[in-house]
Amino acid sequence: MKKLFGLLWALALLLLIAACGADESGSEGEDSVEPAEETGGDAEQAAGEGGGEGDLEIFSWWTGAGEEDGLNALIERFEEEHPDISVENAAVAGGAGTNAKAVLATRMQGNDPPSTFQVHGGEELNQSWVAADKMEPLNDFYEEEDLMDKFPEELIDLVSHEGNIYSVPVNIHRGNVIFYNMSVLEEHGLEPPTTFDEFFEVAEELEAAGVTPLALGDKESWTATQIFENVLLGTLGAEDYQALWNGDISFDNERAAQAADTFGQMLEYVNDDHASRNWQDAAQLVAEGEAAMINMGDWAKGYFVNDLDLGVNEDFGYLPFPETDGNFMVITDTFGLPKGVENPDDVKKFLSVLASVEGQDDFNTLKGSIPARVDADTSKYDEYGTDTIEDFQESNLTPSLAHGSAASEGYLTKANQAVNIFVTQGDTERLLESLETARVEED
Ligand code: GAL
Repeated sequence: MKKLFGLLWALALLLLIAACGADESGSEGEDSVEPAEETGGDAEQAAGEGGGEGDLEIFSWWTGAGEEDGLNALIERFEEEHPDISVENAAVAGGAGTNAKAVLATRMQGNDPPSTFQVHGGEELNQSWVAADKMEPLNDFYEEEDLMDKFPEELIDLVSHEGNIYSVPVNIHRGNVIFYNMSVLEEHGLEPPTTFDEFFEVAEELEAAGVTPLALGDKESWTATQIFENVLLGTLGAEDYQALWNGDISFDNERAAQAADTFGQMLEYVNDDHASRNWQDAAQLVAEGEAAMINMGDWAKGYFVNDLDLGVNEDFGYLPFPETDGNFMVITDTFGLPKGVENPDDVKKFLSVLASVEGQDDFNTLKGSIPARVDADTSKYDEYGTDTIEDFQESNLTPSLAHGSAASEGYLTKANQAVNIFVTQGDTERLLESLETARVEED
């Protein structure tokens, strides 16, 4: 009898363990926050790989080094709050959405939208998806969640079209930042440059000392476009930089030509193998002290701190790109509700977590960006974060071309091509002509 009791007890224990296991791998398990598989840059290969039916499929390009930590933190919070909804992290590798945007376009055209996807506020959202009638307005959601006064007006404008709001900003990245290796500059008795003249003086000295002055990884050409947009901002100033995208100023003018010359001159100081590196590989040159500086959006801060274990203002310093102090090149990642998804209520639940103070703080303290919300808990941010939050409030805000806000996706593709040709050929006139022609074509 005792033996039978023992057997029954063991059986009951086994059943209990099995039941717990099933629970863990179901709704709350770690499985669903595993980073999405790297696609190895092959957009085609990844196209069509959707989540399971009914899953909340979150589409972005935040995979791998420096990119995924914030997203995983957000997903974890969501899963804690909604253990009944299973999440599919459908990220596609490639900085600035190089591959993800192509995959997304294929899916949207095939009426197979992810539940929600990363999209930059501004033209990328408006021209690619809102104008094509692919997004649901979120005005009611903003009202219900009491969000109308929780984001800076400029951000709400970037995600609005003809009076409707179409997405929720999760962050604000800054694009006009120079990150530098502190000990490299110190060792050579150099100060980080604030003007173009200073940049070239510092670059000359570094080069003479055998250090690469400026790290570049333009295997994906947006990184070079990003430098050029910052040179344009530094040369034209905030107002006229904006006027370039409004069409009030053409590229056929002396200051744009001057900016192209300065850009060309800067490219003389980059690493020889720039075309075979991506942004992380280039940032690594700075981390290791082989290069002194890099212009990168502040996702590089997330990479330096979380992935490479470097300290803000201990190992690396930061300052605005030359001659752009007082200006803030805004990059904002946002998520919306595509038309025709199976689970709009679940998507809204995710957007609600993403829009919350806690969600934004979980995400942005890891991502390198600052919260899009105006009432986030600033005590959670490091010195870079608090400096940037302050700068955002005091600066002229300008939209990034390289990250989708200033011009349409079609224009950006042509601009990236033109910049890429310029990097190899250095033909200033051709660059300006291509940029102008592309604009006329896209209008
Ligand atoms: C930007 C995006 C950032 C970061 C970066 C590098 O376009 O807004 O969040 O992902 O690309 O991939």
